[in-house]
Amino acid sequence: MQLVTEDNITALAQQRWATAKDPRTAELMTALVRHLHDFAREVRLTEAEWTAAIGWLTATGQISDAKREEFILASDVLGLSMLVVQLNHRFSPGATPATVLGPFHVDGSPELGFGGDMSDGVAGTPLYLTGTVRSLDGTPVAGAVLDVWQADADGAYEAQLDVDEARLRAKYRAREDGAYCVRTIAPKGYSIPMDGPVGSLVGQTGISHFRPAHVHFLLTADGFEPLITHLFQEGAEYLDSDVVFGTKQELVVAFTPREPGPTPDGGTCAVPWTEARYDFVLQPCAPR
Ligand SMILES: [Fe+2]
Repeated sequence: MQLVTEDNITALAQQRWATAKDPRTAELMTALVRHLHDFAREVRLTEAEWTAAIGWLTATGQISDAKREEFILASDVLGLSMLVVQLNHRFSPGATPATVLGPFHVDGSPELGFGGDMSDGVAGTPLYLTGTVRSLDGTPVAGAVLDVWQADADGAYEAQLDVDEARLRAKYRAREDGAYCVRTIAPKGYSIPMDGPVGSLVGQTGISHFRPAHVHFLLTADGFEPLITHLFQEGAEYLDSDVVFGTKQELVVAFTPREPGPTPDGGTCAVPWTEARYDFVLQPCAPR
């Protein structure tokens, strides 16, 4: 029998977790044990700190539900989400880059037609997002689905509100020529939720807890890699201090003010509105 000592406990724990039946699980768990033990040794973790960390994890789980994803938020503010995105989506130059999903995506958004209004009565400056969905070689990707979601003018997502209907989210489909048109309202920069354990931790630092104004997209099309990304408003506050590290220069677009009149969907707008143009370029699936 080998008794446990401070010197051998890491090796013993790694040996146990190396027995995982799935080789990848064994690889993940032995590396996790190694890094956790190294962390505890490096900072000389106290029992009070260990207890506080367990309490924080427990609270993070308890505040999460079907719509609130506090663990995703934790991963986001630690920079882990964006690192995992970059490790897994090394697209070709010229393809639209991916960024974080964030904690507020809701499955099953209703499908709207070209120029359909996903703001549907929510107050704000009308915004038309238009452009095309294309492959790297410029071919239109007809039928590409654009799942779009965003915060309201107060920075609140549907997931944070007590509403039963889809709010500021919808799916659109690129036409035969690859064109898409989203009618919504201009987004504003917002703070991440500060009323939970992530906010409590961030509040103890000098970290800015804001995100620059943006709209979220999840693009899917047969034969192409799914693309999770955002479009950010050029000149918006917090572009260089995004609390979730999600901003990329290629995703910053001009939001151009327009006078009342014709709109990109062939209709008209009776009040001043804003237009943003962006051509999405999808990465074809690697041959399998
Ligand atoms: Fe967002």
